[in-house]
Amino acid sequence: MKDIVVSGIRSTGNLHLGNYFGAVANFIKMQHQHPCFFFVADYHSLTTHPNPVDLLANERQVIIEYLACGLDPEICTLYLQSDIPQTAELYLFLNMLAYLGELERVTTFKDKARKHPDNINAGLLTYPTLMAADVLIHKGAKVPVGKDQEQHLEMMRTFGNRFNRLYNVDYFPEPQAFNFGTELVKVPGLDGSGKMGKSEGEGNALFLCDDDKTIRKKIMRAVTDSGPTQLNQPKPDAIKNIFALMNLVSAKDTVNYFDEQYNNMTIRYGDLKKQLAEDMVLFINPLAQKISDLKQNDDYVTKVIAMGKEKAAASANKTITEVRKIIGFK
Ligand code: TRP
Repeated sequence: MKDIVVSGIRSTGNLHLGNYFGAVANFIKMQHQHPCFFFVADYHSLTTHPNPVDLLANERQVIIEYLACGLDPEICTLYLQSDIPQTAELYLFLNMLAYLGELERVTTFKDKARKHPDNINAGLLTYPTLMAADVLIHKGAKVPVGKDQEQHLEMMRTFGNRFNRLYNVDYFPEPQAFNFGTELVKVPGLDGSGKMGKSEGEGNALFLCDDDKTIRKKIMRAVTDSGPTQLNQPKPDAIKNIFALMNLVSAKDTVNYFDEQYNNMTIRYGDLKKQLAEDMVLFINPLAQKISDLKQNDDYVTKVIAMGKEKAAASANKTITEVRKIIGFK
């Protein structure tokens, strides 16, 4: 049987172009190759005590955006973490095998504890146990996550192996990081520095739900410089970024045209950005449109969530029944 893929999605919505070409593109491809479980990590989000009024609306926004990008709820299992309380039961079991010392050494825990010393709750401490439960509840073997989650993956393996050893079974697999395709596309932001990111400040990221006007405005304000002063001059980072974005959404000829202009020093950044803005609008607008259509279609989204719950519950029930038996509950 093919390895099972499991991944959690943060429950604050608003995907940007970096997500689209990164994690989301990965999900879209792997859903056709593996049994995939993707869930909105709403239990995890409770560590910061979100407002109950916003909770479900945020989750639906996340589901809608992933659907708009091409996750197919008939093919993969797309669900809300809190719809599968079996995960919480497995979390309880795994917590009996998780030691305070190792949990306290997790970098993400230490970072969060440092940043929010007034809210170092046990849920934050046991965040890695809940993640392990998320994956092991489906006996997941592949976990598509970024580098920042490496340590969490290591802990999943530790907890699963500890369970196997304690009960003398070969039950849980060892989940491994999984990147589909060879290399992830890097999408730069608009502020002239690094990657596109949500927390990099207003105007750095282009969101899939941005309207045309917003896209144009953000791109026209993107950081550039005063222009090349020599023929065939290497591009500084900010200009490289604009070209990298253009490479993602514009025709090859268009990119070459401006590249040549840059090299012979006739380029006008205003024209470059205008072209990029128009091509970006053509790229994002259909996605934004799909998002807005899905937002009008409450019944469909509700149906998708219910279908995900049913499929995830079938898998989770099987695991939790077996786990209870192994532990000795009958
Ligand atoms: N911690 C992950 C993040 O911050 C989200 C997540 C929760 C997750 N549970 C998971 C990822 C299980 C992979 C597997 O992005």
